[in-house]
Amino acid sequence: MWPLKIAVKLVLSNLPLPYRVKTKLGCMQHGFMEDPQYGMKVFEHHKNICFPDGLPDGFTALELGPGDSLASMLMASAYGAGKIWLIDAGQFARTDTAFYKDAAERLRGDYPQIPDLSKAGTLQDMMDACHAQYETGGLQSLRQIPDNSVDMIWSQAVLEHVWKDEFNAIQAEFKRILKPSGRASHVIDFQDHLNHALNNLRFPESIWETTLFRTSGFYTNRILASDALARFRMSGFSHVRVVGEDRWDTIPTPRSAMDSAFQSCTDDDLLTRGITVTTY
Ligand SMILES: C[S@@+](CC[C@H](N)C(=O)[O-])C[C@H]1O[C@@H](n2cnc3c(N)ncnc32)[C@H](O)[C@@H]1O
Repeated sequence: MWPLKIAVKLVLSNLPLPYRVKTKLGCMQHGFMEDPQYGMKVFEHHKNICFPDGLPDGFTALELGPGDSLASMLMASAYGAGKIWLIDAGQFARTDTAFYKDAAERLRGDYPQIPDLSKAGTLQDMMDACHAQYETGGLQSLRQIPDNSVDMIWSQAVLEHVWKDEFNAIQAEFKRILKPSGRASHVIDFQDHLNHALNNLRFPESIWETTLFRTSGFYTNRILASDALARFRMSGFSHVRVVGEDRWDTIPTPRSAMDSAFQSCTDDDLLTRGITVTTY
């Protein structure tokens, strides 16, 4: 099944069609942020890891890879954010104001602090009301953010998608912009985005890291858990702690079918389906 999925995605993802059309064709989707309840669950998960005793007053937050919507601006403002950066690698978020008005109303019962968006005429008005800034230049956008200015950084199912050769640079930016008292939290999903196994490890780097594969909706950087943790440390984070882990019972793809670069990986790495990690 996975070879067929790769073939179909390689063709459909690279057609010159708008992102929303590709989403409808089922070849590309950037997460689940169109569901505000999901967004709030994600925000609260990371908030509880970073600041279990409460966020700093007027905190500055940064979400890497918000995906299909900017709903996190509602979550952060519900908790009193003074500023929220939403940094993605492309313009994937919904722009229709009705979506955000509806999301705000659905959440307001539990989170009365969410700003009143009913009179906002444009998405920019809404972002202003939430003190949000959406930037879509990925690493380049991170480079515009001032040193020591962010209290909380989080990402949900994003760090496995950043290009392998940008992973360290992104962490270095996180280290630069995070305040000394700041905290970061990341959920990383190591499953292949084809068949929820490790079929991605079958390919040599010379194929996997081509532009064609990187832009085909199933790209993951194949940085396994122990390597990711080493890279966080190398970027200057002295506290790197795995606070949640999801494991397979058995390695889901035969080791013998993997590219030679992965055949000697530890059982531990090949059994790790996902982790939540905090860094500061
Ligand atoms: C699987 S989606 C997850 C979206 C959202 N976090 C969620 O949980 O629904 C991965 C997101 O990471 C973004 N992404 C990938 N590389 C990135 C980069 N270098 N900088 C910022 N965002 C990136 C993608 O554009 C996409 O929006």
